Amino acid sequence: MQERELGNTGITLPSLGFGCMGLSEFYGPPTEAKAAVRLLHEAIEHGVVHFDTAEMYGMGSTNEQLLGTALHDRREQVFIATKVGPLRDSTTGAFIGVDGSRENCRRAIEGSLRRLRTDYVDLYYLHRVDTETPIETTVEAMAELVEAGMVRAIGLSEASAETLKRASSVHPIAALQSEYSIFSRDIESEMIPACLETGTSLVAYSPLGRGLLSGRFSESSSAPEDYRASTPRFQGEALAANAALVAEIDSIASELGVATAQIALAWVLSRGEHIVTIPGTTKLEHLKSNVAAMALALAPAQVDRLNRLADRVIGERYDARGMASVNR
Ligand code: ATR
Repeated sequence: MQERELGNTGITLPSLGFGCMGLSEFYGPPTEAKAAVRLLHEAIEHGVVHFDTAEMYGMGSTNEQLLGTALHDRREQVFIATKVGPLRDSTTGAFIGVDGSRENCRRAIEGSLRRLRTDYVDLYYLHRVDTETPIETTVEAMAELVEAGMVRAIGLSEASAETLKRASSVHPIAALQSEYSIFSRDIESEMIPACLETGTSLVAYSPLGRGLLSGRFSESSSAPEDYRASTPRFQGEALAANAALVAEIDSIASELGVATAQIALAWVLSRGEHIVTIPGTTKLEHLKSNVAAMALALAPAQVDRLNRLADRVIGERYDARGMASVNR
């Protein structure tokens, strides 16, 4: 299995982990609890080590609770990442802001540890940058959690290059989590160089473009009836145009006799030794196929063909509110 070091932590991980969000929210109804626990156990059996969750996934943090149920009795075998920052209205679930204060970091980690049924998390991210709290203050607070043994390594999610550099001057930042895929390459100009400069791994989320890059949507598909319907890339003519672009990925998949999603994952992993990725799935067959993509090498000419697609994608990856939460 392809292994990569996380930042300069000395911790090595398989280059492909499991983004667990979709088991609880955003991509259709939550997976039934027993089936979700079974899938997480099967993931471990298939070599998955790195499980990614967040306080905000699932109303009442049900995604962390799920991971606690599934992983607490095999804690030594797994690497658990969770995140703090975004706040939700406890009744409606609406997003009501981001809090990167020391108080909120301390409050949140205690809840996360309780729900995850563990006394430490391997990687603790600031999920979105709090524009009211200097990043140095947040990272100092997170460093106190490292000191206290509650957290092994610190990460940031959707932070700008400048924020990453400022954060790194306070404490090593092991990981920057950002959306990165054949269709979403905007981090290449500034963030990836900043990761290389600061010794930070890139954890690429939505490597399958929320399912778009698996080839499961055609030009005549309508948007799935879930959160994705609110995102510009899944709407109307944009969805048709974007689905048509996937034909190029399909054609490389056919040449190699592999699945379209595997090409999308292999492309992400081909972009640098400091990159790991965390696709999400609710299905064992997809999980096995995704894990197998770690062994797939693309020829330079194939990478070139894939590199031409991003500029032709129609629509932003998030709606206006989501884009505003991204620190650029
Ligand atoms: P995120 O990181 O936000 O979870 P992603 O990994 O880019 O997003 O995409 C997740 C989506 O891809 C899910 O809808 C998942 O659907 P299933 O639960 O049906 O698997 C889909 N997906 C994941 N792996 C896939 C695969 N190998 N083939 C087809 N679809 C896949």
